[in-house]
Amino acid sequence: MKRHRITLIPGDGIGPEVMKPTLKLIEAAGVNIEWDSHLAGADALKKHRTTLPKQMMDSFAKNRVALKGPVTTPVGEGFASVNVELRQSFDLYANLRPIKNLPGVKARYENVDLIVVRENTEGLYSGIEHEVVPGVMESLKIITEKASTRIAKFAFDYAVANRRKKIAAVHKANIMKLTDGLFLQCARDMSQKYKRIGFSDLIVDNACLQLVLDPTRLDVLLLENLYGDIVSDLAAGLVGGLGVVPGANLGDTHALFESVHGSAPDIKGKNIANPTAIILAAAMMLDYISEAKAAARLRTALHAVLARGECLTRDLGGSASTSQFADAIRREMEK
Ligand code: NAI
Repeated sequence: MKRHRITLIPGDGIGPEVMKPTLKLIEAAGVNIEWDSHLAGADALKKHRTTLPKQMMDSFAKNRVALKGPVTTPVGEGFASVNVELRQSFDLYANLRPIKNLPGVKARYENVDLIVVRENTEGLYSGIEHEVVPGVMESLKIITEKASTRIAKFAFDYAVANRRKKIAAVHKANIMKLTDGLFLQCARDMSQKYKRIGFSDLIVDNACLQLVLDPTRLDVLLLENLYGDIVSDLAAGLVGGLGVVPGANLGDTHALFESVHGSAPDIKGKNIANPTAIILAAAMMLDYISEAKAAARLRTALHAVLARGECLTRDLGGSASTSQFADAIRREMEK
């Protein structure tokens, strides 16, 4: 059995609660992984005086694959987002979020099968903000041809490899004619090279409306950073909430897998968080490291427990704790 070495960032808030049972499930799926575990964010700041300790960065640089729990980012003041810094430092330019109905999970719509492709390194998340004069703040939105072309290429290549039919580029180029205009133009130019994949564009407010009216009409969504962040949560709400949607941050050399949800401070320490999102992120990671059988085992067991509906966490209408839900998946795998 091949041995993998993977960087683990359990995160904070509900991160460690959902990560712990997930690691046991990954092991039960029959993969041999040596985890290299590191703190990040506020916990790392206390212990190492930095939110991104060098040991963690070195570990990810070397291992090239990481599984990460959510990390809290203080609102308004305090340190910069660990997530944004990780994505920028390792050039994890593509954020891939599959939004799909799961068996047994009550949702507003059936047959939802969306792929959100979010540009992960620039836009308003470039972090270039300053005070112009007291009472006036400025935040720079950076859109480059290089990053827009590369994310558009990623989306089209993904569509081809995964037999998707069409891509909609989401923008606000009617108002931000230069920045969003460039993003849209790069997507249009790329679409010319992929004649078998349908291409359209949607203004972001209309895209939100279309998603809420009938998400089954859309397929792959291509968005710049901020719109991708917002639309991901909206789309998660269509299929059962943040507890069930995974994500991957991909670059040319490195890959980091995590859930779409954050550290959920409102339910931290209560053992009620739904680990589905991080389990599905782990399955994406197993596919990425060519452990497709183990990924399938994990998904099949998860789907079976969800479909039976006897042991669901509270966000899905049940009363099971995080550990009870994970134990049910474990038993399913042992059958
Ligand atoms: P959040 O995603 O943590 O929570 C939003 C709502 O969804 C809350 O009511 C929460 O209880 C619920 N929820 C989230 N995950 C759940 C789960 N697995 N099971 C059941 N319910 C769940 O978003 P919020 O409150 O805006 O952010 C909290 C912190 O997380 C912030 O500091 C934010 O910056 C950070 N964050 C980190 C991310 C990451 O590390 N990738 C992503 C998003 C937010």
